[in-house]
Amino acid sequence: MMNLCNIDGVISQESEGRIPVSDRGFLFGDSVYEVIRVHDGVPLFWDEHWGRLGASAAGLMMALDVSEDVVARRVQETVNAADHGDSYVRIVVTRGVGDAPNIDLACANSRQTWVIMVRPLMLASGKSVHLRIVDRLRNDRRALDPAIKSGNYLNNVLGLAEARSSGATDCVMLNTDGAVTEASTANLFVLRRGVWGTPPLDAGILAGITRHALLDFLTAADQRVNEQALTREDLLAADEIFLCSTLRDISPVSHLDGLPMGAAAQTARLIPMFTEHLRRRRTERDLPKWRALLDVSR
Ligand code: PDD
Repeated sequence: MMNLCNIDGVISQESEGRIPVSDRGFLFGDSVYEVIRVHDGVPLFWDEHWGRLGASAAGLMMALDVSEDVVARRVQETVNAADHGDSYVRIVVTRGVGDAPNIDLACANSRQTWVIMVRPLMLASGKSVHLRIVDRLRNDRRALDPAIKSGNYLNNVLGLAEARSSGATDCVMLNTDGAVTEASTANLFVLRRGVWGTPPLDAGILAGITRHALLDFLTAADQRVNEQALTREDLLAADEIFLCSTLRDISPVSHLDGLPMGAAAQTARLIPMFTEHLRRRRTERDLPKWRALLDVSR
């Protein structure tokens, strides 16, 4: 079992994968990416990840230059070759080499670089989090919209580093209006007086696929849930908080700003129900769609 990568259709060990130093992804973070999990050879939420990859690219004025079925085929071949069972798949698309190191888009005249990384899946589902509300603000939407999942993650890198330096395991960042946005690589839900709340997309967050699935799931499970602007005070007054992402599912927050939260009983109750919801969704929706997509690529 190896960590593998696939660069423009060629599979190698991850440690052997080579990208030119003039690649704009390396020089400028000029790239987009998705992190996808694969169970029994079937990606969860492929449609949603593929759609967001295209939307992120459009946000950077890039049109993806490899078709969905070809990428799906590469993902499947690389996952099969790695043979990890459940896999972590990262798809990175950079604007390519071009006439770098000139930042001007007029110089970005090469094909894009397509990288697929495959590793064993390490799910942090149910693993509790010490959360810190950090001083560093989330990028303003008018500067670099957090809805674009670009390879420029320095805002998140530095937010997480600030949380880590105070002994926490993740950060939550506020926006320029003082509203709560998200954690370093996860969205967030809070429970207050029996009602779940999560920041709206216009707070300046990534439109998390797990967040969206949870909004549907909670509604279907007759839970009260709202997308609503939240403040630092709302977090401090919350009965429960959890983070959610592709790699976490649901992770309860056990400490906020160094202080213990309560028992997270409602969050604990949701975790097995949501796991079962995702399992059903994968067999009923993702599996047939994935098979159909691979048939197209044959
Ligand atoms: N990150 N917010 C940010 C900033 C993220 O990077 C992520 C995901 C999420 C959750 O999105 P989703 O539910 O679609 O995974 C929210 C991935 C897991 C990563 O970068 O590793």
